[in-house]
Amino acid sequence: MINLLDEDYQARALRADVRAGLTAAPGARWLPPKWFYDARGSELFEEITRLPEYYPTRTERAVLTTAAPEIARTTDAKTLVELGSGSSEKTRLLLDAMLSRGTLGAFVPLDVSESALTAAVGALTEAYPGLTVTGVIGDFARHLGHLPDGDNRVVAFLGGTIGNLVPAERAAFLTALRQTLHPGEWLLLGADLVKDPGILVPAYDDAAGVTAEFNRNVLHVVNRELGADFDPLAFTHVATWNPGREWIEMRLRASGEQRVRITALDLTVTFAAGEELRTEVSAKFRRDGLSAELSAAGFALSHWWTDPRQWFGVALAQAR
Ligand code: SAH
Ligand code: TRP
Repeated sequence: MINLLDEDYQARALRADVRAGLTAAPGARWLPPKWFYDARGSELFEEITRLPEYYPTRTERAVLTTAAPEIARTTDAKTLVELGSGSSEKTRLLLDAMLSRGTLGAFVPLDVSESALTAAVGALTEAYPGLTVTGVIGDFARHLGHLPDGDNRVVAFLGGTIGNLVPAERAAFLTALRQTLHPGEWLLLGADLVKDPGILVPAYDDAAGVTAEFNRNVLHVVNRELGADFDPLAFTHVATWNPGREWIEMRLRASGEQRVRITALDLTVTFAAGEELRTEVSAKFRRDGLSAELSAAGFALSHWWTDPRQWFGVALAQAR
């Protein structure tokens, strides 16, 4: 395991993000999504992937089941890198196909969540004794330059996580990724597609309340790490479809007036009843838009797979 996240940097980054986000004007307050994923957050995400309303994981798995042999054949991958790898469960489909093709030697999963990564690396090392598995604890927005060099690398970015970046972040991410790759190397991108809001919204607001608990987890993280006194249960989970932006917006709404003390920042913030704090967007894509974004970053779309209902897309793009 390689750890690129120095604790000091993370602590400073969290303080800076929370200060910037919570001192913004009421109504414009926000917290960045990567802070969701402490050990509890990663567990809750895994629970989300099994919810009846959360179609992305099982749909992407179905698409990958069909596409994996062709991905292995087209890329002849020697190294598979996975960004925001989480449990790497679906990635086994790629590992199986690439190993039976006989080209693959190494798997490099990268995630900010040390607990999720440790569990995944343990399970994969046991399941794939011939494969070199090197976990990297890191931030895909900062550490792409530290990926192991090699040839015939495939970088997988699955689960629709690309949609959790806003357009400017997405462009910066894709451009930085392109710069770390040699021409001819590959990006395998899983993207959730635009569909009926009647399907989309429940995927982010499930009946059992797991997504609500996941959303509120960020307040537990701030309480623990920065000595804050948020009452997480005084905030309700809100998920709405923004048809102009074509993204789901996740927010936390103060159910009554709240006064929160954040000791480590020497800061007190008040929320009026009904005031909202934005925690996450999950953008939904169309093939043409995604193809244009890839192309602007220096990738050429090579293959595109989707399920029969066209709910989830998997793009294979090549660095030009
Ligand atoms: N790829 C998995 C997990 C998706 S959830 C799947 O398809 O099911 C998003 C994952 O990205 C989480 O494991 C989270 O810890 C990780 N993550 C979020 N922001 C990150 C960042 N900035 N850098 C690295 N990993 C990040
Ligand atoms: N990448 C996942 C997605 O956008 C992350 C996710 C699922 C998520 N459910 C969530 C993020 C709820 C925040 C809140 O689908």
